[in-house]
Formats: sequence, C-alpha cells, structure tokens
Amino acid sequence: MPVLRKAECSYDIRSHHSQRTEWSGQLGKPGLLLPHLQQGKRESYSGAGGNEANAAPQKTYQDPLHQTVCEARAVILAALPLYGTNADRSACLKKKRVLSGIQPSGNLHIGNYFGMMKPMIDLQVENELFCFLPNYHALTSQTDGEVLRKNTVEAAADFLSLGMDPEKSVFWVQSDVPEVTELTWVLNNVTSVGMLERATSYKDKVSQGLPAHHGLFSYPVLMTADILLFGTEVVPVGKDQKQHLEMARDIAIKFNTIYGETFVVPEALIAEETGLIPGTDGQKMSKSYGNTLEIFCEKNDLAEKVMGIMTDNTLPDEPKETENNTLFMIYSLFLEESERNSLKERFQTPGLKYVDVKKELVDVIWDFFAAYREKRNGLYADDTTVVKILKEGADKARDAAEPYLKMVRERTGILYWDS
Ligand code: TRP
Repeated sequence: MPVLRKAECSYDIRSHHSQRTEWSGQLGKPGLLLPHLQQGKRESYSGAGGNEANAAPQKTYQDPLHQTVCEARAVILAALPLYGTNADRSACLKKKRVLSGIQPSGNLHIGNYFGMMKPMIDLQVENELFCFLPNYHALTSQTDGEVLRKNTVEAAADFLSLGMDPEKSVFWVQSDVPEVTELTWVLNNVTSVGMLERATSYKDKVSQGLPAHHGLFSYPVLMTADILLFGTEVVPVGKDQKQHLEMARDIAIKFNTIYGETFVVPEALIAEETGLIPGTDGQKMSKSYGNTLEIFCEKNDLAEKVMGIMTDNTLPDEPKETENNTLFMIYSLFLEESERNSLKERFQTPGLKYVDVKKELVDVIWDFFAAYREKRNGLYADDTTVVKILKEGADKARDAAEPYLKMVRERTGILYWDS
C-alpha cells in the first residue's frame, strides 16, 4: 500500500495541523479514537439510515502520518460545540478549516448575507476559510445556461464587494475543481438510498413542484464531497442545512469505517442568533417564497418591500411584542446589542407606529450597504478581474484537495497502477 508522504503532497496537511498544538495540547498522542466514534454524543437525526455512526470500530491506521493527523483533529473537534452562539464561536473557532458555499441563484438577499456571507467573511480573520459558489448544485434548479453563467460571476462580485478577501481565503467556483464530482461518485457507493429519501429538503422541494430528478435526490452527496474533499473541520450553515451536515458526517464515518481513516468528520456551526432570518412575510427568507429583501437593489424597490413587511394589528397606542415580530427581527440584524435594546424599548412604549419604523429601516438598510454598493459597481464593470480571482482560488482549492483525493483513489483501488 503506497502511503501518503509529506513530500508528495503539494499541500502539507501535517504542518497545517501541527500549528494547532497550542489549541489541542495533545497532538500526536497515540491511541485516541475520533470523538464522534467514541461517544456517539451528537443528536442523531431521525432520518439517518443505519447505526454505522455508533459502531465504534477499532481504528487501524495504515500510515503513521495519517494517524497523527487524525488524532490531532480528534482532539480539536472534541472541544468544539456543534451549535453555538457567536460568543462560543469566537472562543472556539480559531485556526480551523472552515468551509461553506452559497448557490449562485440570482440576487443575493439579506438572509444570505446575515445567515452565511457575513459569518464567513468574519471567520476569515482567524481561520482558514474555504468559500465557494456551488454552481453544480445550482443545476438542480437552473436550466438556462446563460442565466447560470451570469449569476455565478455576479455572485462572486457580490461576495468580493461584501468583504471576501482572496488573499486571506480560498474563494472559487465549484466547477473549477471538477474533482469534486469524482469524489461524489465514490461517495455514492457508501450512501444509503433510505437516508437520502428521508431528506426533508428534497421532500420539500418535490412537494413544491420541482421535478424529482436524480440531481436533486443526490444533492446531499455532492454537498458531502464539497466538504470532505478539503479536510473541512467546521461548516457554518443555516438551520435548513443541518440535516445535510448530519448526512455528510454519516457518509464520512461510513467511508472511514470501510476504507480506514481518510476524512475529517465535519462539524456544523449554526449561530443561534441568526439561525433563521425571517422574510417579509415572517417565513424563512428565501427566494422560493418571494419574501426577500435584496442586498443590492434600487432604493425604491427596497422601500416597497420593507413597507410590505408583515406586522401584527397592534394599535399605535398599544405596546408591541418584540418576540416573533418580523419587523423587529429584521431591523435587529442591523443593530448592535445596545441599539437593539433601545429599539425594544421603543416597541414596548405605546405610541410607536410600524409605518415610521419601516421608513427608518429603509434608510438603515440602504446606508448599511452603501460602501459595498460602490465596490460592487466597480467589479461589475470589470468581469476579468473577478474571473482571475476565481481561477487563482480554484488552484489553491485543488492543492488542498489533492492529498484527500490521492488517499481516496488508493484506498478504493481506483488507482490501479503503482504511483
Ligand atoms: N446546500 C447549500 C445551500 O443551499 C449550499 C452548499 C453546497 C453548501 N455545498 C455546500 C454549504 C457545502 C456548505 C457546504 O445553502
């Protein structure tokens, strides 16, 4: 069995992880099992097929380098809470490999921004951030090639103008690292159909009338490949993606059980405060519900939508509830804690008119994104810069993927000649 040697990887996973000793304190200590195998402490979602995750097979490491890498990760992951508040996050999330993606499906909205883009942009300061645009995933719902192409470049420009820094992070388009589809195929063979059939997101989409094709069905497998291919430790996602993350963990564990420790088993990170961002009708903000507030749009369009935010029928001279109050929740996204407290007081004081709050909110949102809007106009005028940044990002992502793919090809026997 050829082993993965340090010199053979253009991306050096070992040195990358050994930088984390200060955090784990136990790098290289022999005999540790991965925490998820040891304890089975995660809530398991009702949908996951089989009990493989709890089987706790004895680890056999074919190669000492890989053993060191896995054990170090096990210690790091053991201390990271699965779901956390922002405070937990900043306490625990340092120097981790964090990955997430957002579909390039047209105008980005503030739900995308606060739910995913901003947390990612903030995380690039202290972590190794991997962020990509899953355009293969977008094929599940977009059949117009020209629209997908345009959406992809525009989403990249939006991300860059909102603060994604290609110097600090790895930022690319999914299809520029086509190895992810190779890994998807391999993972298909350790993924149970029963588990995929229980995916709520699949069931929801089909019940909304999307055709039940295989791309939609195996969406979680491609997403798993996205995550595992780069040795991802932490995946910040919205609550709606929690089940997909649990599937990714299941699939990683299953592969590791069959072929030996290969993949890092990723952790989901769902910030409680922004877990669900309501749209103008109070449901989760989502393009498919038509209840979004776009980050970048004309001011009168924004105003029209903000004025349409659903409110209860409390009279102006009555105090207003803030809990489950869509207007309060959306406004709060743009406020610091102290400002949020004073908004709360205003809501609780009789005399407040929702319409006045809405007018104010239009300006708050508009000003919040003003500087970003300017940067974005520059990038939109210059596609080639955006494409160049994406290509450079894809090169970095491929380097990071290489050792994992090499292990996969060797261990599955796909690589049949002596390398
Ligand atoms: N499914 C995610 C969404 O719709 C997008 C996505 C694709 C993703 N691959 C990923 C998110 C990998 C995190 C990690 O929001």
